[in-house]
Amino acid sequence: MHQNILILDFGGQYKELLALNIRSMNVLTIIKPGNIPISEIIEINPKGIILSGGLSSVYDEDAVRCDPELFKIGIPILGICYGAQLMAYILGGLVAPCEIKESGCVKMNIDPSSQLFAKMDTTQSVLMNDNDCITKLPAGFISTAYTGSSPNAAIENTEKKLYGLQFHPEVKQTTNGMKMLNRFVFDICGAAGDYTVDDYLNEQMSAISRQVGNESVLLALSGGVDSSVCAALLSKAIPDRLVCIFVDHGLMRKNEGDEIEAAFSDRRLKFIRINAEKRFLEALKGVTDPEQKRKIIGREFISVFEEQARVLDNIKYLAQGTIYPDVIESGAGNKAKVKSHHNVGGLPEIMDFKGIIEPLKGLFKNEVRILGKRLGLPDSLVQRQPFPGPGLAIRIIGEVSKEKLEILRSADAIFREEIKRSRLKPDQYFAVLTNIKSVGVTDDNRTYDYAVALRAVKTKDFMTCEYMKLPYSTLDRVSARIINEVKKVNRILYDITGKPPATIEYE
Ligand code: XMP
Repeated sequence: MHQNILILDFGGQYKELLALNIRSMNVLTIIKPGNIPISEIIEINPKGIILSGGLSSVYDEDAVRCDPELFKIGIPILGICYGAQLMAYILGGLVAPCEIKESGCVKMNIDPSSQLFAKMDTTQSVLMNDNDCITKLPAGFISTAYTGSSPNAAIENTEKKLYGLQFHPEVKQTTNGMKMLNRFVFDICGAAGDYTVDDYLNEQMSAISRQVGNESVLLALSGGVDSSVCAALLSKAIPDRLVCIFVDHGLMRKNEGDEIEAAFSDRRLKFIRINAEKRFLEALKGVTDPEQKRKIIGREFISVFEEQARVLDNIKYLAQGTIYPDVIESGAGNKAKVKSHHNVGGLPEIMDFKGIIEPLKGLFKNEVRILGKRLGLPDSLVQRQPFPGPGLAIRIIGEVSKEKLEILRSADAIFREEIKRSRLKPDQYFAVLTNIKSVGVTDDNRTYDYAVALRAVKTKDFMTCEYMKLPYSTLDRVSARIINEVKKVNRILYDITGKPPATIEYE
């Protein structure tokens, strides 16, 4: 087991960013709900603990709280926003609503003799986002920073190695945030920095070989980053004993099915491609409701997979490309469901396997990408933007048909080509076939054709996003090309909504 920093999650939106930042320092980070028992924390044996931010006030009845014993076990602790308030409150300090709420980037004055801030300028720019402030320090603490409205923007008790920050060090708006985290992790916790993606790969490879022995593993390959990297890892760990089933539902983007097949053709694995377009389109005929479309695709997918898997020999294990964000248990309760996501998860329930193999379960997406590169996968797969399991079916509003798919594929390919040429870097971008037909004119003739919407977003976590302000020159070129090259489209729209209130996909 590598040394680790444990993040206790109190529901704030930045816990994954925090974990990623610390992992980028070669230190393993683990995220657990804020209220896990002390015995579990001791078992994890962290070098340091970070209490994340959260949406609650420490006085809320349903606020998630940690065990007060946490502050007595001698492990260094850094509380951030709610985490800092919780620590102060539990240890006998006072927390109250800020008189003037500071939100956004503010100037903060620090005490450079604090180990967290050593050798930094006395004035720092930090991101604040709090309703409450620490108004009275617990015994043994001193204040090491203040802002215009918060006299205790940072607090510490060096003897007990307890630190609290009223601001977010993990975001880039806090200019020296990474330095502060670095000080905590290395200087205060004494972490060695002993964790790399290569170590992870080697550990997984030997664990899988041990677990699988002479038996074979089945993987549902979607061509997405996670399942592709999972396939590459397994084909290295247990060559010749991996069977990949790629269900091509006919809802992929232009040439995508062939690209996926080509990427795995020279690896030592059995690759089965099932061309099931006809079956999926048949099942989707006449269906317009987004949730129903998603459910039908999920159900069909499982049926095709199950039929194929049943005829294979000696398959004892099922592999899945589950990644760390999929398994983090939230400490903040469940949010209302907006869409039923379909991916290849959920398969084990339908079949009788001896075990499940999830070799990426400890990695974040960017680490999965690094691993994919190490394993020799092409950029076209490893750097792929997310593509939803139900594919283009949820980018065609209303009923899906072969004709609509062809129109959307061509328009989407042009948009992606032009974005690539422009060197702009949206995190996700695609075309959508709206169900709107409108009147236009081409060569003096009336047309009555589809409107295509373009969507390009910037996001870190895909839970929220901003629309990207693409230059008009790029939009002009994409629009002209789609209108000229794609039949049955006479209008191009650019989507300027973020999430919320919209979602990234249209259905
Ligand atoms: P929304 O539309 O919910 O999308 O804002 C957030 C992110 O999730 C992707 N997405 C999916 N991914 N199966 C997936 O594997 C799905 O059913 C699915 N639906 C949405 C979406 O592309 C975006 O990146």
